[in-house]
Amino acid sequence: MLRRWSIEGALVPLSLSCIAYPFWRNNLVLPTLYASLGYGLLALICSLKLIPILSPIFKARGLRGRDRLKLNQHELPESMGVICASIYVALMILFIPFVFTDVLFSRQAPAQSTLSAVGQAEFPQQQLSVFLAALLSLLSATLLGFLDDVFDIRWRYKLPIPLIASIPLLLVYYAERGNTHIVVPKQLRVLFGRTILNLGPLYYVYMALLSTFCTNSINILAGINGIEASQSLVIACSVALNDLLYLPLPFTFKLQGFSFGGIYGAGMAWGSRDLVERHLLSLYFMLPLIGVCAGFLRFNWYPATAFPGDTLCYFCGMAFAVVGILGHFSKTLLLFFLPQIFNFLLSCPQLFGLVPCPRHRMPRYDLRDPPFLFPSLTVFKGSPSALATRILETLSVLGFARVTRDVSTRNITSTTNLTLLNIILIRTGPITEAELTKMCVLLQITGSLIAYIVRYGLAGLLYDGDRH
Ligand code: UD1
Ligand code: MG
Repeated sequence: MLRRWSIEGALVPLSLSCIAYPFWRNNLVLPTLYASLGYGLLALICSLKLIPILSPIFKARGLRGRDRLKLNQHELPESMGVICASIYVALMILFIPFVFTDVLFSRQAPAQSTLSAVGQAEFPQQQLSVFLAALLSLLSATLLGFLDDVFDIRWRYKLPIPLIASIPLLLVYYAERGNTHIVVPKQLRVLFGRTILNLGPLYYVYMALLSTFCTNSINILAGINGIEASQSLVIACSVALNDLLYLPLPFTFKLQGFSFGGIYGAGMAWGSRDLVERHLLSLYFMLPLIGVCAGFLRFNWYPATAFPGDTLCYFCGMAFAVVGILGHFSKTLLLFFLPQIFNFLLSCPQLFGLVPCPRHRMPRYDLRDPPFLFPSLTVFKGSPSALATRILETLSVLGFARVTRDVSTRNITSTTNLTLLNIILIRTGPITEAELTKMCVLLQITGSLIAYIVRYGLAGLLYDGDRH
């Protein structure tokens, strides 16, 4: 406790100095980025401090869940994601004036302009509406996630929830005449007879689905201590690192010249004001997210003392959708979701009703063999359909599922739940919950490394220049 206090104590002056630094030195290249870093640290401090204070209150109000993969299955405070989301949104609101410091303090405005004149003529209303729409989408996702935690909404209703939350984003995208064109990969150009394809309204459908995917895919790769928060943390760090590569900072110049020189040389619009602004916006949203996720992970890591609830999954997923859509790098963003894409595709037979989907698909904790986890099972009530049998047989051959059959009819009677966590357990044999979480974090980091290789190493095989 004393140690945590001292860490927080040390971080407070650091975060405040970061926020104040741009006011002190007004010749910085990206002044708002320092403030954003300060807010990221504040997000970390607030979550480290508030979560333990509010945990007993949440439990007392009935927001609690059983830690199912433990011997005594004690109850922990649930839906703590709502604290993270509240800290995040409050800090982002406080951060808004920093985004417009140049205008508010007339740094770049004409010398004679007064604040009222700035308010009418020079204030970048569009940039403000982008920010506010993003916050509205995040708030809607948080509210809907919290409702889900409280009312335990069914999957068929749960899936489209983020579609509603993404509407403000899509409208802003439309208002700023967002691009709906995609570049056809070199290999497919003969087929389409063109280099650029306008998807029109379909592009909006794609973006709406992106927000549904980002939110739900984090939520269905869940059930062991620390996994939701660590997925979000690794993805947020990967996005932030990717953003940094586009900013005119001394070390990114070196990086671009060294590792990504090929792409830069191939005519990448790197350094264009538009591109820098989009990635700056993304960083403004990612740094506080990294702060709250890191702070929350302190309490959610094995052995957890707090559960995130669907609120954290929805809120983090929507934050990724926000930056992917408004930053115009949705394809790059999806690359950082490789484990989630795999887990979602694997889960489809259960999510769409071909294979029974129990309320919880998390691994099984065997009371006779603690502390190890085993793949959990789902049992067929009748005989499975021909399609389900085909799918399960294929997955079984690939080593992604383990099925049991009726001795006389040879029909499949049960299968391991179709999740990435169970696949790891099938491959490794029984391991502890902490080991499984660490393996997932490692997988997520490996996924991000592959994403960078694909994005910056292999993209040239499909496209001519920089395509997000
Ligand atoms: C999703 C998954 C479900 C998984 C659950 C775990 C699908 C379709 N749904 O459902 O399979 O079991 O998440 O979050 O894939 N819990 C623990 N330990 C943890 C985290 C959660 O025991 O580290 C338990 C707690 O009892 C907690 C509950 O899971 O209360 C939360 O489940 P909830 O988030 O409501 O489940 P879903 O998101 O509906
Ligand atoms: Mg959940």
